[in-house]
Amino acid sequence: ADIYGSERPNSKGFDLTAPEKVAALTEQMQAALARNWTAGPIVGGVELSGPTQPVTDPANRARTVGTVVLADRQAVERALSLSVAAQKAWDREGADHRAACLDRAADLMEADTPALMALLVREAGKTLPDAIAEVREAVDFCRYYAAQARSGLKPVLLPGPTGERNELHLTGRGTFACISPWNFPLAIFVGQVVAALVTGNAVIAKPAEQTPLIAAEAVRMLHKAGVPGDVLHLLPGDGATVGAALVVDARIAGVCFTGSTETARLINRSLADRDGAIVPLIAETGGQNCMIVDSTALLEQVVDDCVTSAFQSAGQRCSAMRVLFAQEEIADKLADMLAGAMELIRLGDPMDVATDVGPVIDNDARDILIAHAQRMDGEARLIKAVTVPDAVQNGTFFGPRLYEIDGLSRLKREVFGPILHIVRFKAAELDKVAAEIAATGYGLTFGVHSRLEGRAQTLFKTLPVGNTYINRNMVGAVVGVQPFGGQGLSGTGPKAGGPHYLHRFVTEKTLTVNT
Ligand code: SER
Repeated sequence: ADIYGSERPNSKGFDLTAPEKVAALTEQMQAALARNWTAGPIVGGVELSGPTQPVTDPANRARTVGTVVLADRQAVERALSLSVAAQKAWDREGADHRAACLDRAADLMEADTPALMALLVREAGKTLPDAIAEVREAVDFCRYYAAQARSGLKPVLLPGPTGERNELHLTGRGTFACISPWNFPLAIFVGQVVAALVTGNAVIAKPAEQTPLIAAEAVRMLHKAGVPGDVLHLLPGDGATVGAALVVDARIAGVCFTGSTETARLINRSLADRDGAIVPLIAETGGQNCMIVDSTALLEQVVDDCVTSAFQSAGQRCSAMRVLFAQEEIADKLADMLAGAMELIRLGDPMDVATDVGPVIDNDARDILIAHAQRMDGEARLIKAVTVPDAVQNGTFFGPRLYEIDGLSRLKREVFGPILHIVRFKAAELDKVAAEIAATGYGLTFGVHSRLEGRAQTLFKTLPVGNTYINRNMVGAVVGVQPFGGQGLSGTGPKAGGPHYLHRFVTEKTLTVNT
């Protein structure tokens, strides 16, 4: 087995163009929604009870999907003490044992795909294609990291002089806090947790406040797959009660975080200020992702890729395109074509296979988009705004928008939703554009549409960006195929779904024996 996992297939897709298959799938999803979905602290394998709060559907705020019990300080304390007591034994079990748990968890997730999809649609507002892709990504993370652990975590015998034996051992660091976002409430949640587990760590997972139900279900599956209850705990709750309490505690040996750059900074500060060991922060944060399109590009393809990159998943991907740099000779034509393509976007109930764009996650998210659009209405040229249909007025929907702005400096920070900004540039200004993009400080995704291969390659080499996509869309990184993660303000650099990711979760020990 090589570290790139080239012998390992990813999970299978689903044909959404076959109406009878879609009908059968949605029927299974509806049946799954009738289950009594609950989430709460899962500590030591026990689901704790307490006062419940409803978890509502972003596509229809009147619809309750399930209930959540929030973790209190006692649950946090118990999870910490149980983890510390259990971690060493888990580490000693060895990589093959732990990898087998991940493979079993992948099988359980795959077998219950309709239920996981139903939660993704109703708890997180995901469309059917997004929900399918997300279940597959979670399954692929499990199998990919299992394969990586089997081949990559074994002790290695190193060369040395006669009379001496040298070995390199990789072990878990201790207990990891995994803090994950609502925009990939299954895939990123599972990816973080299983990477930390398979490397021999105990895990305390804090899911996003908006999406505790699917996280609880994933934890149940991991426990069923053989991960001991004392080794993996779930603490739903807010950042102040759960996240902050974990990161200041000296029993936490590492933090894996995906979310905003500001929160990553706060976590980093807490880790630096607390007593005890100096521990790693693995952070994947935001982006100000740009695409450059020059006059040699195939515009029909550009339009399709822009709609996907900027508006799919309601723009709620950290990889999503926010700014499109168009060479001035083609800028008007491209803007017209994009406006036409936006005319075709269908906003609606994400359970409906015909829906292209579902809701944004909650009122706060929508308010930020509304405020940004209001600012843009004063400072920029509105090219197109998709209206929200009356049928979905009970949900937190926001119609995709396209603005022309006079420079990247108009955008102060990442705006997380379906708003795309076009900036036109002159052919001679390409270097200036690249410098402006680098100067944002973000470095997550970047796209180029150009038939001048050398130019695109130069941009790839020059820009400090984690994932560059040439002549295609710039979202939907695939496990083991496009290792994903950014630099600078976009994160500390590890690539999820890549061959070096697991190394961030281990500690390396060298043994030298005079024989
Ligand atoms: N990994 C996702 C993508 O590539 C983003 O979070 O779109």
